[in-house]
Amino acid sequence: MGIFTKKPIGQLLQDSSDGEHTLKRTLSAGNLVALGIGAIIGAGLFVRTAAAAANNAGPSVTIGFIVAAIGCALAGLCYAEFASMIPIAGSAYTYSYATMGELVAWIIGWDLVLEYAVGAATVGIAWSEYLNKLLEMFGMRVPYEWSHSPFESLKDAAGQVVSHGIMNIPALIIIFLITLLLIKGSKESAVVNGIIVISKVSIVVLFIVLGWAYMKEANHTPYIPAATVYSDSQGVAHNFGGIWGILGAAGVVFFAFIGFDAVSTAAQEAKNPKKDMPIGILGSLAVCTILYVLFAHVLTGVANFEDFRDATKGKEASVAYAIKTYMTNYSWLANLVTVAILFGFSSVILVMLMGQSRVFYSMSRDGLVPKLFSDLHPKFHTPYKSNWIFLVLVGGFAAFVPGDIVGDMTSIGTLFAFMLVCAGVWILRVTNPEIPRQFKVPMVPVVSVLGIAVCGAMIAGLGWTNWARLGGWLVIGLVIYYTYSRKHSKLRTND
Ligand code: ALA
Repeated sequence: MGIFTKKPIGQLLQDSSDGEHTLKRTLSAGNLVALGIGAIIGAGLFVRTAAAAANNAGPSVTIGFIVAAIGCALAGLCYAEFASMIPIAGSAYTYSYATMGELVAWIIGWDLVLEYAVGAATVGIAWSEYLNKLLEMFGMRVPYEWSHSPFESLKDAAGQVVSHGIMNIPALIIIFLITLLLIKGSKESAVVNGIIVISKVSIVVLFIVLGWAYMKEANHTPYIPAATVYSDSQGVAHNFGGIWGILGAAGVVFFAFIGFDAVSTAAQEAKNPKKDMPIGILGSLAVCTILYVLFAHVLTGVANFEDFRDATKGKEASVAYAIKTYMTNYSWLANLVTVAILFGFSSVILVMLMGQSRVFYSMSRDGLVPKLFSDLHPKFHTPYKSNWIFLVLVGGFAAFVPGDIVGDMTSIGTLFAFMLVCAGVWILRVTNPEIPRQFKVPMVPVVSVLGIAVCGAMIAGLGWTNWARLGGWLVIGLVIYYTYSRKHSKLRTND
């Protein structure tokens, strides 16, 4: 048996019933939509939208949101089919082990570290920006040096460097606190999650409704800027404006949709997965897309995208900046947004770190990563060693790498995983047509091919620096696979 060894689906289902409780089917389509929205709205909307407007597309970031949503909807359908066929935790990693063999499964599992662990670092950095906004209400702030990575610097109006980042301490602290929560295994209660979802959605709707009157025509003209190249303050060149600008923006704001796949992991708990899974996935995507497009339209209409390039203006905590600066009657809204965002981001970090430990738990049970990743705490029954190890990795990224870089790494890693999931559905239709599927993607392979094409276009739009980072990440993963995982794989050693 070689690198294409596949895990039989019967064995997958058996493993899951050995190791996990049988979950009750209690979730309706409405619950699933709420679950999706709760996991989705976060730093992508409140931080990356302004970054994409500044670096890639100006006001046409709204079109980027639509492109990203189409890619997600296509991949989302494929997720739904897998989830209804293999309703087990472990997400895309588990699906690919059954369909495309061990090497591809390893690549996806390794890639999901980008989605979950590096994604959590991105949201941690965004949390740090908004913490400073909160402290400003009380006349304080964490000094620039201690709230930024060593790769960032603050310049004055004349372009002189006035401060250098050393370490992002607030980002590290929030990751640490949430790791502690995870180890204790305290689950967010449904009530707390419900309150967070309602407050996030209310803030978005309030900003759209109240900000609408403050939009200026000039900020939206031209809506699609002419194509040029923009070098940001770190000296990284971005395709700005035109089609490439929109595709680049789509890749950046794609981050805002990450998490909708969380709905697919609840397939075991859906009352009627055949009908409710596509409604849950596509419904939460549709609601978020409408909110995101309107939000981005208002944000780039209230403040000019040039403000979001300037670290002394709205480069950070951009939404609070836009409200405070241009919607002068609504400073209470800026304060409310800041507080709601801090809570909202914390719950996104929690979901991502939990997703990370679940994927590595599954990989460890399969022998592809060391056993310590599935060792459970004697009292709390959580994979605490895994949580500690990821604290070092995620905390390191959060403390020492700029938010734009980790955000784009998250997007590109997830897009790549989505492409493999789209391919996986098609492959399994050919190789195992007999397996019952509670939900079937319509028009396979058209949907698979379109999903691969749209996600691939966003990867193309993210530019060569991100391709190089993804390539480097995959090379490290392959070295680990060939030096460790291949030799320890349970599926192979049992043969
Ligand atoms: N979609 C999540 C966010 O935007 C990851 O924070």
